[in-house]
Amino acid sequence: MSTDVMIYADELSKRFGNFRALDRIRFEVRRGEVVGFLGPNGAGKSTTMRILTCFISPTDGTAKIHGHDVFDEPLEVRRKVGYLPQRAPLYQDMLVWDYLRFVADMRGLDESTFKARMRKVVEVCGLAQVLGKDINTLSHGYRQRVGLGQALVHDPPILILDEPTSDLDPNEKAEVIRYIKEIGKERTVLLSTHNLAEVEAACARAIIISKGRIVADGPLDEIRARTGKIRYVLAVSEQTAERGKAPTATEVQSALRAIAGVRSVAELPTDEKAHGFELTGDTGGDLRSDLFRLVVSKGWTLLELRRDSQTLEDVFRDLTKGDERRDRKLGAPDDDDRDEREDKTETRRSESPKEAAVSGG
Ligand SMILES: Nc1ncnc2c1ncn2[C@@H]1O[C@H](COP(=O)(O)OP(=O)(O)OP(=O)(O)O)[C@@H](O)[C@H]1O
Ligand SMILES: [Mg+2]
Repeated sequence: MSTDVMIYADELSKRFGNFRALDRIRFEVRRGEVVGFLGPNGAGKSTTMRILTCFISPTDGTAKIHGHDVFDEPLEVRRKVGYLPQRAPLYQDMLVWDYLRFVADMRGLDESTFKARMRKVVEVCGLAQVLGKDINTLSHGYRQRVGLGQALVHDPPILILDEPTSDLDPNEKAEVIRYIKEIGKERTVLLSTHNLAEVEAACARAIIISKGRIVADGPLDEIRARTGKIRYVLAVSEQTAERGKAPTATEVQSALRAIAGVRSVAELPTDEKAHGFELTGDTGGDLRSDLFRLVVSKGWTLLELRRDSQTLEDVFRDLTKGDERRDRKLGAPDDDDRDEREDKTETRRSESPKEAAVSGG
């Protein structure tokens, strides 16, 4: 394992009773990478993050943080990591400032380092107005900001953030993403989110997990190219052209279908001035000149011609369709699901604020 590998998972599996939440997942995250960790609800993102941060142990496999095994050297792991759990557990009856100082104390920060770090934490997390307030009086979004603050207070080299922006308002979301991008230049960030625009904004690489298995891992460009399709949008005028008569939608559609390399053609809703179509072709090819020549040869008037690669969202949906189908079908659960049961010990552990502060903050 190279010394640059900050997060390492090898053949990692987790079972809850008979339910397999993680199935031999394997990935590495290097120094200076900000990696988006994506997947539908229940895919196993939080479970992976809880293993990496020593909250639960894997059933099988190895996980290392900064070269330290999560099982053998949990204290070293906790020192290197800032962790924001999906539902940040906080001491409700503490003031925000006192809570963050408590976390910093446990992290062993001295007074002057704490004060210096707090300036940055307050700026990034937008906490200036609430430092003197009781945590239990805070709104949802502000609690999440405090949770993020405890993950950042010791300036850790590795950040594991489970949906850090889910309850934030758009201004704060943008600020947090900007900061993640900034610190990601020297640190390592694993960030789970359902907001694909955030991944596009902050991450160069994504890992997509579905039903406990990794289904894609790579640079965003490569992931986008995964479906092997390119989308085109074409619109021609419905009005009579200079020569010939006005084209009908059916006529345009069958002419488009006849072009070699066109995989599918679907009509788009348009106003009465245009016939619009969405086409797909293979990646690597470019059908724009053929499309343009067709329009010219027919004497139609071209209003729009555009070539888009698939969006991250298209690929995400393509790769995780199985989960979606399973969720919407009423009937016998999967074999694996049948014995799903709560692991009471682990749940209790993960909900203790003290543990979270020690481990995460
Ligand atoms: N303590 C537990 N006991 C039983 N099953 C569990 C436990 N923790 C997680 N699971 C199950 O493991 C699967 C993965 O859950 P996980 O929380 O990792 O999903 P996720 O990808 O984080 O989803 P979300 O996007 O909804 O947060 C789910 O089916 C979940 O119900
Ligand atoms: Mg989760």
